[in-house]
Amino acid sequence: MTAIAIEDLVFRYPSGVTALDGVDLRIDPGETVAVIGQNGAGKTTLARHLNGIHRPTSGTVRLDGRDTAERSIASLSASVGYVFQNPAEQLFASTVRADVEFGPRNLGRGEEEARRLADRALEATGLTPFADHHPYHLSPADRKRVALAAVLAMDTPVVVLDEPTTGQDHAAVTRIARIVAALRDEGRTVVAVSHDMDFVAENFARVVVMAQGRVIADGTPGEVFTRSADLERARVEPPQMLRLAAELGWARPVTTVPEFLDALRAGPSGRG
Ligand SMILES: Nc1ncnc2c1ncn2[C@@H]1O[C@H](COP(=O)(O)OP(=O)(O)OP(=O)(O)O)[C@@H](O)[C@H]1O
Ligand SMILES: [Mg+2]
Repeated sequence: MTAIAIEDLVFRYPSGVTALDGVDLRIDPGETVAVIGQNGAGKTTLARHLNGIHRPTSGTVRLDGRDTAERSIASLSASVGYVFQNPAEQLFASTVRADVEFGPRNLGRGEEEARRLADRALEATGLTPFADHHPYHLSPADRKRVALAAVLAMDTPVVVLDEPTTGQDHAAVTRIARIVAALRDEGRTVVAVSHDMDFVAENFARVVVMAQGRVIADGTPGEVFTRSADLERARVEPPQMLRLAAELGWARPVTTVPEFLDALRAGPSGRG
């Protein structure tokens, strides 16, 4: 069954801005999907439809075959975890642990289970040492990972990350990549909005490109990042490795360091 089925989704803000202008998108269970596109393309607005923060102006969003319009936010939050682009909109408790435990408690997971899920999420995000700190005493980058931990602790089948690597140093980006891989290995569906093309190419099997409230390209990183006209329209720069390979005159689409090394070892004939 398709985990997420979006049909002809239109969303207009009360201000009159049409942020989504007819989005069609199907995502199967267990897929890892990155959504890219320039500022204002509608990525966050789309992501917020997945857990019911936004409701369609027209069109439908189905989750496991059920129209989300018929489900409460409380019911959707057991299925879809959404990590806010701006953690200030998501966090509210006076300690990191309380923020991370809130989700599983609220879903009725019980005291002990909530604590176990929170401990696991704090460990995965590298926040165990900060468990008793006030979230607002942390750096913006650490606070952003608290928002991620709070969603991981909810243990949902679908996880939506809005710009997870913003402001994160190399070690934290590696941690986040490991979290995406672990979610994938557990068979969860991961959707991430990102401006970080290297992170996208290295960690997602599918890339969806948005421009002006629509999906304009959809495919593997190798397919999408070689569609230069679409990338230009979406004002997206391809990953560094692809640009380097193109500069070297290679025809083979290479989007990550391991792919680059494979192509290098394959010699001129293997590079197309
Ligand atoms: N609360 C709001 N009220 C009115 N218009 C909004 C609101 N939030 C976003 N918009 C507008 O909707 C459009 C899509 O915005 P959205 O935040 O979904 O884009 P985005 O692709 O996530 O951008 P970014 O990469 O900057 O995060 C933009 O024109 C934006 O100005
Ligand atoms: Mg956004």
